[in-house]
Amino acid sequence: NPPNTQMGESSGPARWNCRAKGGSSGFKVAILGAAGGIGQPLAMLMKMNPLVSVLHLYDVVNTHGVTADISHMDTGAVVRGFLGQQQLEDAVTGVDVVIIPAGVPRKPGMTRDDLFNINAGIVKTLCEAIAKCSPQAIVNIISNPVNSTVPIAAEVFKKAGTYDPRRVLGVTMLDVVRANTFVGEVMGLDPREVDCPVVGGHAGVTILPLLSQVKPPCSFTQKEIDYLTDRIQNGGTEVVEAKAGTGSATLSMAYAAVKFADACLRGLRGDAGVVECAYVSSQVTELPFFASKVRLGRAGVEEIYPLGPLNEYERAGLEKAKKELAESIQKGVSFVRK
Ligand code: NAD
Ligand code: LMR
Repeated sequence: NPPNTQMGESSGPARWNCRAKGGSSGFKVAILGAAGGIGQPLAMLMKMNPLVSVLHLYDVVNTHGVTADISHMDTGAVVRGFLGQQQLEDAVTGVDVVIIPAGVPRKPGMTRDDLFNINAGIVKTLCEAIAKCSPQAIVNIISNPVNSTVPIAAEVFKKAGTYDPRRVLGVTMLDVVRANTFVGEVMGLDPREVDCPVVGGHAGVTILPLLSQVKPPCSFTQKEIDYLTDRIQNGGTEVVEAKAGTGSATLSMAYAAVKFADACLRGLRGDAGVVECAYVSSQVTELPFFASKVRLGRAGVEEIYPLGPLNEYERAGLEKAKKELAESIQKGVSFVRK
């Protein structure tokens, strides 16, 4: 194997071996499900991230091809591929951040919860390996249904005695990315200048955009609020239907996942003021998990911000969101405890 695609260490010349061990600075990141629709562009974008020195790519199929391909990019990170369950523990050992996009995506007509039966077991198995081999890692969970897979991960870590709620984060960044884009379209603003918090969870009515808190401050008509709320809550379904049976959002998700992982890495580096929305263990509501703005630091989630003032429309949305979220959380917890 050439040095950057080894399954294990390279047997190349000394200088190669030196390089293949990875740079001394930078973080080690593992992607589990790296050969998938999200995994591939996510791996490519993480290979471009200057904060990453070593990139582990794990999947149950096709990791060799993706690893060989991505390893030819002339960026700093060293790429290592891991294939199949017997290499899972090696894939997660010693990494700082694990990103999990493993699992099946939706087809038209399905809810995210319809993925539970397959993806719950996948996330459980992956988290068992993380608990054993990399209990200090920050875990970014993308696999759906996020509202349940995050509680599953937490229960697995609790069982293993390694649970640190600051280190388990459900990735809801795509909802924020969509909200910024759609608000930008409606208001004629550059989406890069829009900041729309999205709280709650990551499915249907649990996705609660706080349009009253958008920055720069925007004055929306009720029609615009209805349109934006519906579009943000159903953005995933919009893509699933457009892809007509071939999958769900992959490219925008990879973009969002990298934006979020980069925030986690900047937090780990000790940067001040890194704040993003994420679905985490939380006391912001009476539910044990909730998405809201969090500050990321060396320990992972270092502060969880309250929701701030909500208008009547948002308070009604919050009640609906909490009802559905409570069931999804319980379903995830019971899956591991049963
Ligand atoms: P995909 O089918 O294209 O890729 C999934 C990958 O996971 C495949 O390569 C598959 O081999 C791999 N995989 C399956 N079982 C595995 C296991 N046990 N260990 C490791 N890898 C395994 O699907 P996708 O489009 O990449 O979507 C992946 C997941 O992400 C889905 O559950 C989807 O619903 C979810 N998703 C979440 C968000 C979000 O905002 N959080 C957005 C988009 C998609
Ligand atoms: C999304 O929001 O795009 C993802 O959760 C995938 C899906 O099933 O909608």
